[in-house]
Amino acid sequence: MTDNAAAKDRFGGLTALARPLLADLGRLATGRGGPAAGPLNIEDVRALARRRSCALPFSYVDSAAEDFTTHRANLRSFEELTLRPNLLTDVRERDRSVELFGRTLASPVLLAPTGMPGIQHRDAEFAGAGAAHAAGTVFTVSMASSHSVTAIAEKCPGPLWFQLYPWGNADDFTPYVELAARAGCEALVVTLDTPVGGNREADRRTGFTMPPHVSRENIGEVVRHPVRFGRWIRTLATGPGIRMGNIAETGATGGMNAVHQATRFEAKFVPGFSADELALVRRMWDGPLLVKGITTAEQARRARAAGVDGVIVSNHGGRQLDGLPAAIRALPEVADALDGTDVEVLLDGGVRRGTDILKALALGAKAVMLGRPWVWGLAAGGREGVDTVLRILNTEVERDMALMGIRTLSELGRHNVNVPAAWAYATPGGN
Ligand SMILES: Cc1cc2nc3c(=O)[nH]c(=O)nc-3n(C[C@H](O)[C@H](O)[C@H](O)COP(=O)(O)O)c2cc1C
Repeated sequence: MTDNAAAKDRFGGLTALARPLLADLGRLATGRGGPAAGPLNIEDVRALARRRSCALPFSYVDSAAEDFTTHRANLRSFEELTLRPNLLTDVRERDRSVELFGRTLASPVLLAPTGMPGIQHRDAEFAGAGAAHAAGTVFTVSMASSHSVTAIAEKCPGPLWFQLYPWGNADDFTPYVELAARAGCEALVVTLDTPVGGNREADRRTGFTMPPHVSRENIGEVVRHPVRFGRWIRTLATGPGIRMGNIAETGATGGMNAVHQATRFEAKFVPGFSADELALVRRMWDGPLLVKGITTAEQARRARAAGVDGVIVSNHGGRQLDGLPAAIRALPEVADALDGTDVEVLLDGGVRRGTDILKALALGAKAVMLGRPWVWGLAAGGREGVDTVLRILNTEVERDMALMGIRTLSELGRHNVNVPAAWAYATPGGN
């Protein structure tokens, strides 16, 4: 190459580099963002939700019981597992669908029940269920949902599941089972880990209790961020706010205002839901029945004996009994206890990455559920925010499948994960 040609080549290379950088500068200057303007991962979505929300509803989602030990463990334990790929495999075609209770879902990522999303965004479950439908997956309507399951089913084609709290009295929970059936919910999830509310001191400090209280934190938030606070009050005023749609619809609290409904709801937590009540629910519900909150082999076997079709390994995102093991750590024990049966195993708690999902599936889960992440998406950007959360995780799953050398999720097994020796468990009574 002559000196002249080399100089021209260098110049051309520099121009090719500079052009996109200048375009980025232009986008930044005009407020239209740079190449990484949108959230790249779930932690980014959380950060965006934090920036856009009032601290009060945000801290309610972030909250966990007592010292946050179990919540932290949920997140950290995924990091203790390392992956064992299967390279030298043709992975041009990859399929991330899963079969669950006779239905094919396009993704192993389902949305977990979370109460009162109306305090984050007026669209609440309409955004969550709409995004889940678009992504070909399940949205689970909490019994403490903001919009009623009937209204959600009218707007969103599903598939929808319904979550039931274990209120001790059959007269109290029966209307909700009937409501879910009338709305066409495909599965019923009974949450077992809430005989009483968890000790969420963080919520007491922020005054985020039912009824709400004035606290140093919430007064401080009003003073420090009046605009955010004003926006939040508008959200509460224009959407369902703290109203609980199912409670209003069953007529259990007819005529009561939203605060009274919510307070009454909390009072219904009577620690009386036993195997007899679960057997009653089993008789009432024809479709798939799951129990949520399973963390040991013994509980898994009891659930199976009660005739459930699925268990969700979960510690309620660390919001109930602090001191439970991380969900992913409890998973192998539960999966072993149910091995060879037709009971499906799901997991929630701390799932934030595609690799977390593959690790859970490798250790015996059929699918995972997201709690906080979908609510952060909702708070950050309504329906678009929840779409973003599902898109990020599904894209990560697809990429990670290629990196792991697998074409379908059913190829995953224990051979794909290094489990630390300290994770060995001893099941009382053997297995
Ligand atoms: C704001 C919030 C509300 C929740 N409400 C419910 C609920 O109504 N019913 C229920 O079974 N679980 C509820 N959960 C627990 C979730 O279903 C799920 O078990 C947990 O959030 C999973 O952990 P993750 O947040 O780390 O994904 C809630 C969790 C959060 C964060």
